Amino acid sequence: MAKKLFIKTYGCQMNAYDSARMAEVLAPLGYARAPGADGADLVIVNTCHIREHAAEKVFSELGRLRRLQQRRASEGGRMLIAVAGCVAQAEGNAIFARAPYVDIVVGPQTYHRLPELVAAAMRARIVDCDFPPEPKFDHLPEPRADGPSAFLSVQEGCDKFCSFCVVPYTRGAEYSRSAASVLDEARALVDGGALEITLLGQNVNAWHGEALAGGTWGLGRLIRELAAIPGLARIRYTTSHPLDMDEELIAAHRDEPKLMPFLHLPVQSGSDRILAAMNRRHRAADYLRIVERLRAARRDLALSSDFIVGFPGENEEDFAATLDLVRQVGFAGAYAFKYSARPGTPAAAKEGQVPMEVKEERLARLQVLLGEQQAAFNRAWVGRSSDVLLERRGRYPGQLAGRSPYMQAVHVRAPATVLNSVQRLRIVSAQPNSLAAEIEEERACA
Ligand code: 5AD
Ligand code: SF4
Repeated sequence: MAKKLFIKTYGCQMNAYDSARMAEVLAPLGYARAPGADGADLVIVNTCHIREHAAEKVFSELGRLRRLQQRRASEGGRMLIAVAGCVAQAEGNAIFARAPYVDIVVGPQTYHRLPELVAAAMRARIVDCDFPPEPKFDHLPEPRADGPSAFLSVQEGCDKFCSFCVVPYTRGAEYSRSAASVLDEARALVDGGALEITLLGQNVNAWHGEALAGGTWGLGRLIRELAAIPGLARIRYTTSHPLDMDEELIAAHRDEPKLMPFLHLPVQSGSDRILAAMNRRHRAADYLRIVERLRAARRDLALSSDFIVGFPGENEEDFAATLDLVRQVGFAGAYAFKYSARPGTPAAAKEGQVPMEVKEERLARLQVLLGEQQAAFNRAWVGRSSDVLLERRGRYPGQLAGRSPYMQAVHVRAPATVLNSVQRLRIVSAQPNSLAAEIEEERACA
């Protein structure tokens, strides 16, 4: 009988990707994914360390799981609990001190070893938070496409050391997969039904993998090779750093119609003083120049970004510079966060920590501006046509839902026969976070 595996995923798309791969490495052992933890034989909590109180949230989740674990034991069964991901990496053995009922602690670089870890955990608790010399990607099975939109991890880790960020510590040094392994995985995903592939990496545009015939390639070149795969309709990549937006990558936006005209390019702040304190190694003007070059390469390119308000030392003038940058760029959508100190990062020890009320007030002002820009961007689509990848059923019968090239959620009344295809739709109305459309012309497939 199949053993039940429940994976609770926190955080970003990289973690969702890792969760899917963990399920794949465990499948040969007879584990099949279950929708909940109740009655599971193995529960993996795949954690994220970026957000505030991440570790606290994990420990309260573990407390809830402990009760299910006890119930399972009282019924004569056994539920193994594993903690994976960045909190596992950051806390390591310390997890057992606070949650002694946890069986496995596994870091992001070693989950390909889960089958051995699960077997060993039947006997004793086990930690594996190595950064092994041979990358895990060499040990993972071929992925399966789950729907028409797939993720493909090409790069991990980060060497940038932005002063607020834990990623360089939890995910380790930058590592790029080889072009051959990425292209093989992409072909397997397309053979399995993927029409869209999103390349993932904490610093994805820093990708510099081994080329097909020696030497290294950059992401722009990799995208060109991916675009040649028949049957693949759309390519995206996330998350990028402005410093790594090189000429070749910008040219790919000009030359490759399969590369979607939407880019998530975090800037964090519009103040040069704060950017320097953040160790971003670029100024506001550099960011604006990159945006200009991108838009020159692809006129219909739209941008989203990440912002941090209330970084230590940020004053009203610095914040005004951020609002100014937002007005100059005009974003299709963006995420704004209050700065929160991460232990062990340089910014956590800085003087000039900004009071919570000030952060909240600045966050609210920035969100109003970003919200207006997003609503204006969406409204501008009403009456126009957009190519939508219909990837799931909508909330109402007869409705399908998908994504425009700009990641806008689009709903349409359409027959189920067009599910899993790209359709040209006429946008009829806009909400702040989604669009409604009607079918314009039907295409057999993408
Ligand atoms: N405080 C607030 N926001 C942060 N981010 C990363 N670290 C912190 C922090 N310490 C935000 C950045 C990043 C996004 C993923 O999370 O904006 O781009
Ligand atoms: Fe963190 Fe991104 Fe900066 Fe790397 S580039 S340190 S992942 S914010």
